[in-house]
Amino acid sequence: MPKITIDGRECEFEGKKMILQVAQECGVAIPHYCYHPGLSIVASCRICLAEVASPNPRNGGKLELIPKLMPTCQTPASDGMEVYTRSPKSIANQKAVMEYLLINHPLDCPVCDQAGECYLQDYSYQYGRAESRFQEDKIKQPKKDIGPHVLLYADRCIMCTRCVRFTREVTGTNELGVFGRGSREQIDVFPGVGLTNEMSGNVVDICPVGALLDKEFLFSQRVWFLSSTPSIDGLTASGDNIFIEHNEGRIYRVKPRTNLEINKWWISDEIRYGWKFVHNDDRLTTPQRQQLGTLEDCVWESAYTDALTGLRRAVREKGSGSLAVMVSPMLSCEDAYLLARLARSLDREAILAVGPVPTDGDDKTFPGGYTIRAEKCPNRRGVRRALELVCQQSEQVMDYQPFAEMLADKQCETQALIVTGNYPAGDWPDKELAKGLTRKFVVAIDTLPNVLSSKANVVLPSVTWAEKAGTFENTDGRLQAFSQAIAPIEFARSEGQIALDLLAKAGERPASRYDAVAIREEMSGVFITDVEHPRAEVQCEADMQFIEL
Ligand code: SF4
Ligand code: FES
Repeated sequence: MPKITIDGRECEFEGKKMILQVAQECGVAIPHYCYHPGLSIVASCRICLAEVASPNPRNGGKLELIPKLMPTCQTPASDGMEVYTRSPKSIANQKAVMEYLLINHPLDCPVCDQAGECYLQDYSYQYGRAESRFQEDKIKQPKKDIGPHVLLYADRCIMCTRCVRFTREVTGTNELGVFGRGSREQIDVFPGVGLTNEMSGNVVDICPVGALLDKEFLFSQRVWFLSSTPSIDGLTASGDNIFIEHNEGRIYRVKPRTNLEINKWWISDEIRYGWKFVHNDDRLTTPQRQQLGTLEDCVWESAYTDALTGLRRAVREKGSGSLAVMVSPMLSCEDAYLLARLARSLDREAILAVGPVPTDGDDKTFPGGYTIRAEKCPNRRGVRRALELVCQQSEQVMDYQPFAEMLADKQCETQALIVTGNYPAGDWPDKELAKGLTRKFVVAIDTLPNVLSSKANVVLPSVTWAEKAGTFENTDGRLQAFSQAIAPIEFARSEGQIALDLLAKAGERPASRYDAVAIREEMSGVFITDVEHPRAEVQCEADMQFIEL
């Protein structure tokens, strides 16, 4: 395998790679601004320059120093090369570039949203000069509202052109461009054109400084207060890998987590900003049960007692097959499995059905290869797979449409149902299902109030995907585990925990706390062998000594 030496460290590599890429794979840090692995290489910022010695084939393969500094992001690595990023010449270049970039950059880190995750801040500390020699006034550039999600603070821009290349190469929408020349050069949108593409939030992530800012995150938190939990898109069937960033039980932002086989470095705006329903003020937080014709708040124990009594009565009076469970495609595989186990423990012939699958148009693929999925639920395939695991025969799991039609039929034998929702909007169920549920005993497990939760006999408040752990199967059949980011709000419980509690109360299994890993072990098969877990990623490394106070 070919290898190069970077600052005395041997790095092996395969295929055609640039020196910077080899260094990153090998864990050697070389400063860079304009280089991004998902974009074309322009080598314009010049901070990655280093001294390179290369074997000369015309001189018997003898190592010869290339007389000028080479951009490591644009210089292909070749076997036997030696790269010096900490030589006096390389360090002088790094300091010169940092000084040049800071000439007009405002020193407003205390009020800049990017502080704490800013490359200019970090490199200034690692590679820059300690003091400024610039005496003149800094050039002031405008602040602009350039799109529904993004603000441009042009005087913080270091002209790396990552954002411009993103709109050219990834979305193909070309909203951003470089305008002006010299010190008046600035990034802007074309007149009358906003940054309105469905992936616009990604420019905030790739901007190495605080020039492009997320309107929704602006001034809401300092980034060092945020904890990052690896998760999976809980809103569409993409299976995009994300980080949920939160503090003290509140989500503040969602960012992409690199997965080259699924979402690469990107996520759509609908995934980035769609989590707001998690903190909706209308969330169901307390169990309720029907008393004298109205729904009254109650404790979990009373709600469980009423739910089990009603479900059992229907099976006792009408016999096997009179119970059904409808599992929403918003739920995890573990939730679906436990709810199906619960239904089958109460009624051996209980009907298992998948809930309505929201869709919006067709899949949309951008020039850069990223696809926005038309299916607006994360786990239709996984829910069906988990339900089939319980009933052992695929034909017994019903799709939503025939299930709703069956319920609406006057001859329908189903007398009691467990219905789950967890949709981001409370505008479900549709009229057909609502009609089919009348005069039946309904246990509704949901997160937001809706027609169903206002008419059910028992309402059990559940939690969103951010408040529990589990597994989703995406549109390509990839099973991916996600972690719990924040604690459940108030008294809400996950669907899996509710099923476990009811199973325990029914005497079917000992009381236990929901543990996604243990449930997957119980489910066995692909849930042991095929589930992909988030890779441990080091977000940042402390470079200062911590002093205990
Ligand atoms: S706005 Fe940010 S990403 Fe765009 S060129 Fe300026 S520094 Fe680079
Ligand atoms: S990262 Fe190499 S020149 Fe910008």
